[in-house]
Amino acid sequence: MSESVVTETVAAGVMQITMNRPDRKNALDRASYAGLIAALAAAEADASIRAVLLTGAGGCFTSGNDIKDFAIAAASGEGPRIAIDFLTAISTARKPIVAAVEGFAVGIGTTMLLHCDLAFAGEGATFRLPFVTLGLSPEGGSSYLLPLVAGAKKAAELLMLGEAFGTEAAMQAGLLNAVVSQGTALDHALGKAKALAALPPESMALTKRLLKRGTDNAVAETIAIEAHHLGERLRSPEAMAAFAAFLKR
Ligand code: COA
Repeated sequence: MSESVVTETVAAGVMQITMNRPDRKNALDRASYAGLIAALAAAEADASIRAVLLTGAGGCFTSGNDIKDFAIAAASGEGPRIAIDFLTAISTARKPIVAAVEGFAVGIGTTMLLHCDLAFAGEGATFRLPFVTLGLSPEGGSSYLLPLVAGAKKAAELLMLGEAFGTEAAMQAGLLNAVVSQGTALDHALGKAKALAALPPESMALTKRLLKRGTDNAVAETIAIEAHHLGERLRSPEAMAAFAAFLKR
Protein backbone atom coordinates (compact mmCIF):
# COMPACT_ATOMS: atom_id res chain seq x y z
CA MET A 1 0.00 0.00 0.00
CA SER A 2 1.24 3.47 -0.88
CA GLU A 3 2.73 5.64 1.85
CA SER A 4 0.56 8.47 0.65
CA VAL A 5 -2.35 6.56 2.17
CA VAL A 6 -1.98 4.90 5.57
CA THR A 7 -4.40 2.37 7.00
CA GLU A 8 -4.59 1.13 10.56
CA THR A 9 -7.11 -0.57 12.80
CA VAL A 10 -7.67 2.10 15.43
CA ALA A 11 -10.41 0.43 17.46
CA ALA A 12 -12.29 -2.85 17.40
CA GLY A 13 -13.86 -3.07 13.95
CA VAL A 14 -12.71 0.39 12.80
CA MET A 15 -10.22 0.88 9.98
CA GLN A 16 -8.77 4.38 9.72
CA ILE A 17 -7.69 5.50 6.25
CA THR A 18 -5.44 8.57 6.30
CA MET A 19 -4.56 10.63 3.25
CA ASN A 20 -0.93 11.27 3.97
CA ARG A 21 0.95 13.83 1.89
CA PRO A 22 0.97 16.64 4.45
CA ASP A 23 3.65 18.65 2.57
CA ARG A 24 1.18 18.78 -0.35
CA LYS A 25 -1.87 19.35 1.85
CA ASN A 26 -2.68 15.70 1.10
CA ALA A 27 -3.22 16.42 -2.61
CA LEU A 28 -4.28 13.20 -4.29
CA ASP A 29 -1.95 11.92 -6.99
CA ARG A 30 -2.34 8.61 -8.80
CA ALA A 31 -0.49 6.71 -6.05
CA SER A 32 -2.86 8.20 -3.45
CA TYR A 33 -5.92 7.12 -5.42
CA ALA A 34 -4.45 3.63 -5.81
CA GLY A 35 -3.85 3.56 -2.05
CA LEU A 36 -7.38 4.72 -1.28
CA ILE A 37 -8.89 2.15 -3.64
CA ALA A 38 -6.80 -0.63 -2.09
CA ALA A 39 -7.69 0.52 1.44
CA LEU A 40 -11.42 0.55 0.71
CA ALA A 41 -11.16 -2.89 -0.91
CA ALA A 42 -9.28 -4.19 2.14
CA ALA A 43 -11.98 -2.85 4.45
CA GLU A 44 -14.69 -4.46 2.34
CA ALA A 45 -12.88 -7.80 2.28
CA ASP A 46 -12.11 -7.99 6.01
CA ALA A 47 -15.09 -9.30 7.98
CA SER A 48 -13.61 -7.93 11.21
CA ILE A 49 -13.86 -4.35 9.85
CA ARG A 50 -17.30 -2.85 10.41
CA ALA A 51 -16.69 0.87 9.85
CA VAL A 52 -14.20 3.04 7.99
CA LEU A 53 -12.83 6.31 9.31
CA LEU A 54 -11.51 8.60 6.58
CA THR A 55 -9.23 11.51 7.39
CA GLY A 56 -6.16 13.48 6.37
CA ALA A 57 -2.77 13.96 8.01
CA GLY A 58 -1.35 17.18 9.38
CA GLY A 59 -4.55 19.03 10.20
CA CYS A 60 -5.80 18.96 6.61
CA PHE A 61 -8.36 16.70 4.92
CA THR A 62 -7.16 17.06 1.31
CA SER A 63 -6.46 19.86 -1.16
CA GLY A 64 -8.07 17.69 -3.83
CA ASN A 65 -6.57 16.27 -6.95
CA ASP A 66 -2.85 16.94 -7.26
CA ILE A 67 -2.73 19.63 -9.93
CA LYS A 68 0.70 18.61 -11.21
CA ASP A 69 -0.60 15.06 -11.55
CA PHE A 70 -3.72 16.36 -13.34
CA ALA A 71 -1.44 18.04 -15.89
CA ILE A 72 0.62 14.84 -16.34
CA ALA A 73 -2.49 12.66 -16.68
CA ALA A 74 -3.92 15.09 -19.23
CA ALA A 75 -0.71 15.16 -21.28
CA SER A 76 -0.33 11.36 -21.26
CA GLY A 77 -3.95 10.84 -22.33
CA GLU A 78 -4.61 8.83 -19.15
CA GLY A 79 -7.12 11.40 -17.93
CA PRO A 80 -8.91 11.15 -14.59
CA ARG A 81 -9.48 7.36 -14.77
CA ILE A 82 -8.00 6.46 -11.39
CA ALA A 83 -9.82 9.31 -9.61
CA ILE A 84 -13.05 8.02 -11.12
CA ASP A 85 -12.20 4.47 -10.00
CA PHE A 86 -11.80 5.82 -6.45
CA LEU A 87 -15.11 7.68 -6.65
CA THR A 88 -16.78 4.51 -7.87
CA ALA A 89 -15.24 2.57 -4.97
CA ILE A 90 -16.28 5.04 -2.29
CA SER A 91 -19.77 5.54 -3.73
CA THR A 92 -20.44 1.80 -3.82
CA ALA A 93 -18.75 0.83 -0.53
CA ARG A 94 -21.00 -1.42 1.55
CA LYS A 95 -19.55 -0.63 4.97
CA PRO A 96 -20.28 2.66 6.74
CA ILE A 97 -17.75 5.45 6.18
CA VAL A 98 -17.23 8.33 8.61
CA ALA A 99 -15.20 11.38 7.53
CA ALA A 100 -13.17 13.58 9.87
CA VAL A 101 -12.31 16.92 8.27
CA GLU A 102 -9.85 19.51 9.51
CA GLY A 103 -8.35 22.29 7.44
CA PHE A 104 -8.95 22.13 3.70
CA ALA A 105 -11.35 19.90 1.81
CA VAL A 106 -11.04 21.04 -1.80
CA GLY A 107 -12.51 19.59 -5.00
CA ILE A 108 -12.74 15.83 -4.60
CA GLY A 109 -12.05 16.48 -0.90
CA THR A 110 -15.52 18.02 -0.76
CA THR A 111 -17.26 15.73 -3.25
CA MET A 112 -16.11 12.56 -1.49
CA LEU A 113 -18.06 13.76 1.58
CA LEU A 114 -21.23 13.22 -0.46
CA HIS A 115 -20.37 9.50 -0.38
CA CYS A 116 -19.46 9.27 3.30
CA ASP A 117 -22.33 8.21 5.54
CA LEU A 118 -21.35 10.58 8.34
CA ALA A 119 -19.03 13.60 8.22
CA PHE A 120 -17.66 15.81 11.00
CA ALA A 121 -15.52 18.90 10.63
CA GLY A 122 -13.45 20.93 13.04
CA GLU A 123 -14.21 24.64 13.28
CA GLY A 124 -12.21 26.59 10.74
CA ALA A 125 -12.38 23.87 8.08
CA THR A 126 -12.63 25.27 4.56
CA PHE A 127 -14.39 23.68 1.63
CA ARG A 128 -14.24 24.57 -2.04
CA LEU A 129 -15.44 23.21 -5.38
CA PRO A 130 -13.17 25.08 -7.82
CA PHE A 131 -13.93 22.98 -10.92
CA VAL A 132 -15.03 25.88 -13.14
CA THR A 133 -12.24 28.09 -11.76
CA LEU A 134 -9.78 25.46 -13.00
CA GLY A 135 -11.45 25.12 -16.41
CA LEU A 136 -12.81 21.72 -15.38
CA SER A 137 -16.27 20.32 -14.62
CA PRO A 138 -17.88 18.62 -11.61
CA GLU A 139 -17.02 15.04 -10.63
CA GLY A 140 -18.02 12.42 -8.11
CA GLY A 141 -21.73 12.62 -8.91
CA SER A 142 -21.74 16.10 -7.38
CA SER A 143 -23.75 17.62 -10.24
CA TYR A 144 -26.54 15.25 -9.22
CA LEU A 145 -26.06 14.82 -5.46
CA LEU A 146 -25.27 18.40 -4.47
CA PRO A 147 -28.58 19.87 -5.80
CA LEU A 148 -30.30 16.99 -4.02
CA VAL A 149 -28.72 17.62 -0.61
CA ALA A 150 -28.05 21.38 -0.80
CA GLY A 151 -30.83 22.61 -3.08
CA ALA A 152 -30.49 23.86 -6.65
CA LYS A 153 -29.49 27.45 -5.85
CA LYS A 154 -26.87 26.50 -3.27
CA ALA A 155 -25.44 23.81 -5.56
CA ALA A 156 -25.18 26.34 -8.41
CA GLU A 157 -23.49 28.83 -6.10
CA LEU A 158 -20.94 26.30 -4.86
CA LEU A 159 -20.25 24.59 -8.19
CA MET A 160 -20.40 27.63 -10.49
CA LEU A 161 -18.77 30.37 -8.42
CA GLY A 162 -16.30 27.97 -6.84
CA GLU A 163 -15.72 30.16 -3.81
CA ALA A 164 -14.34 28.81 -0.55
CA PHE A 165 -16.93 28.22 2.16
CA GLY A 166 -16.81 27.42 5.84
CA THR A 167 -18.34 24.89 8.17
CA GLU A 168 -21.62 26.76 8.61
CA ALA A 169 -22.26 26.78 4.85
CA ALA A 170 -21.12 23.15 4.65
CA MET A 171 -23.67 22.25 7.32
CA GLN A 172 -26.39 24.14 5.47
CA ALA A 173 -25.40 22.41 2.23
CA GLY A 174 -25.89 19.01 3.86
CA LEU A 175 -22.23 18.01 3.67
CA LEU A 176 -21.73 17.56 7.42
CA ASN A 177 -23.45 16.01 10.43
CA ALA A 178 -21.83 18.36 12.91
CA VAL A 179 -19.12 20.94 13.45
CA VAL A 180 -16.88 20.29 16.45
CA SER A 181 -14.02 22.20 18.06
CA GLN A 182 -10.98 22.61 15.88
CA GLY A 183 -8.68 19.60 16.22
CA THR A 184 -11.35 17.26 17.59
CA ALA A 185 -13.01 16.05 14.38
CA LEU A 186 -11.02 12.80 14.35
CA ASP A 187 -11.87 11.96 17.98
CA HIS A 188 -15.50 12.76 17.38
CA ALA A 189 -15.65 10.76 14.14
CA LEU A 190 -13.85 7.85 15.82
CA GLY A 191 -16.51 7.79 18.52
CA LYS A 192 -19.22 7.54 15.86
CA ALA A 193 -17.27 4.93 13.89
CA LYS A 194 -16.92 2.84 17.05
CA ALA A 195 -20.66 3.15 17.65
CA LEU A 196 -21.38 2.01 14.09
CA ALA A 197 -18.91 -0.87 14.43
CA ALA A 198 -20.61 -2.08 17.60
CA LEU A 199 -24.00 -2.44 15.92
CA PRO A 200 -25.19 -5.57 14.05
CA PRO A 201 -23.22 -5.56 10.76
CA GLU A 202 -25.81 -7.22 8.54
CA SER A 203 -28.51 -4.80 9.62
CA MET A 204 -26.03 -1.94 9.12
CA ALA A 205 -25.13 -3.07 5.59
CA LEU A 206 -28.81 -3.49 4.70
CA THR A 207 -29.65 -0.03 6.04
CA LYS A 208 -26.84 1.55 4.03
CA ARG A 209 -28.04 -0.26 0.90
CA LEU A 210 -31.63 0.89 1.47
CA LEU A 211 -30.56 4.49 2.12
CA LYS A 212 -28.77 4.52 -1.23
CA ARG A 213 -31.38 2.58 -3.20
CA GLY A 214 -33.15 5.68 -4.45
CA THR A 215 -29.99 7.33 -5.80
CA ASP A 216 -27.36 4.69 -6.52
CA ASN A 217 -28.19 4.16 -10.21
CA ALA A 218 -28.32 7.90 -10.87
CA VAL A 219 -25.06 8.43 -8.98
CA ALA A 220 -23.27 5.75 -11.02
CA GLU A 221 -24.66 7.19 -14.26
CA THR A 222 -23.70 10.74 -13.26
CA ILE A 223 -20.17 9.72 -12.26
CA ALA A 224 -19.73 8.15 -15.72
CA ILE A 225 -21.14 11.17 -17.60
CA GLU A 226 -19.09 13.60 -15.50
CA ALA A 227 -15.96 11.47 -16.09
CA HIS A 228 -16.39 11.78 -19.84
CA HIS A 229 -16.63 15.56 -19.65
CA LEU A 230 -13.83 15.86 -17.09
CA GLY A 231 -11.54 13.83 -19.36
CA GLU A 232 -12.19 16.33 -22.15
CA ARG A 233 -11.94 19.40 -19.90
CA LEU A 234 -8.55 18.22 -18.56
CA ARG A 235 -7.11 18.69 -22.05
CA SER A 236 -8.80 22.05 -22.64
CA PRO A 237 -6.83 25.30 -23.04
CA GLU A 238 -8.79 26.69 -20.07
CA ALA A 239 -7.59 23.90 -17.78
CA MET A 240 -4.03 23.98 -19.13
CA ALA A 241 -3.84 27.70 -18.38
CA ALA A 242 -5.24 27.22 -14.85
CA PHE A 243 -2.82 24.37 -14.07
CA ALA A 244 0.14 26.39 -15.38
CA ALA A 245 -0.90 29.40 -13.28
CA PHE A 246 -1.12 27.26 -10.10
CA LEU A 247 2.19 25.48 -10.75
CA LYS A 248 4.16 28.67 -11.32
CA ARG A 249 2.83 30.49 -8.21
N1 COA B 1 -1.95 19.92 -6.11
C1 COA B 1 -0.63 20.02 -6.07
N2 COA B 1 0.07 20.66 -5.12
C2 COA B 1 -0.66 21.21 -4.13
C3 COA B 1 -2.06 21.13 -4.09
C4 COA B 1 -2.72 20.44 -5.13
N3 COA B 1 -4.04 20.28 -5.15
N4 COA B 1 -2.50 21.76 -2.98
C5 COA B 1 -1.41 22.23 -2.35
N5 COA B 1 -0.30 21.89 -3.04
C6 COA B 1 1.07 22.20 -2.69
C7 COA B 1 1.37 23.69 -2.90
O1 COA B 1 1.75 23.96 -4.24
C8 COA B 1 2.49 23.91 -1.91
O2 COA B 1 3.67 23.45 -2.50
P1 COA B 1 5.08 24.23 -2.21
O3 COA B 1 5.32 24.06 -0.72
O4 COA B 1 6.06 23.49 -3.06
O5 COA B 1 4.84 25.66 -2.61
C9 COA B 1 2.15 22.95 -0.77
O6 COA B 1 1.25 21.98 -1.31
C10 COA B 1 1.44 23.64 0.38
O7 COA B 1 0.31 24.33 -0.13
P2 COA B 1 0.07 25.90 0.06
O8 COA B 1 -0.69 26.40 -1.13
O9 COA B 1 1.35 26.59 0.38
O10 COA B 1 -0.84 25.90 1.36
P3 COA B 1 -1.94 26.98 1.79
O11 COA B 1 -2.34 26.61 3.17
O12 COA B 1 -1.45 28.36 1.52
O13 COA B 1 -3.18 26.73 0.80
C11 COA B 1 -4.80 25.42 -0.40
C12 COA B 1 -3.84 25.49 0.80
C13 COA B 1 -5.42 24.02 -0.39
C14 COA B 1 -5.89 26.49 -0.26
C15 COA B 1 -4.01 25.69 -1.69
O14 COA B 1 -2.83 24.88 -1.68
C16 COA B 1 -4.78 25.37 -2.94
O15 COA B 1 -5.64 26.14 -3.36
N6 COA B 1 -4.48 24.22 -3.57
C17 COA B 1 -5.09 23.83 -4.81
C18 COA B 1 -6.46 23.23 -4.55
C19 COA B 1 -7.10 22.80 -5.83
O16 COA B 1 -7.41 23.60 -6.69
N7 COA B 1 -7.30 21.47 -5.98
C20 COA B 1 -7.86 20.87 -7.15
C21 COA B 1 -9.33 20.78 -7.03
S1 COA B 1 -10.08 20.07 -8.46
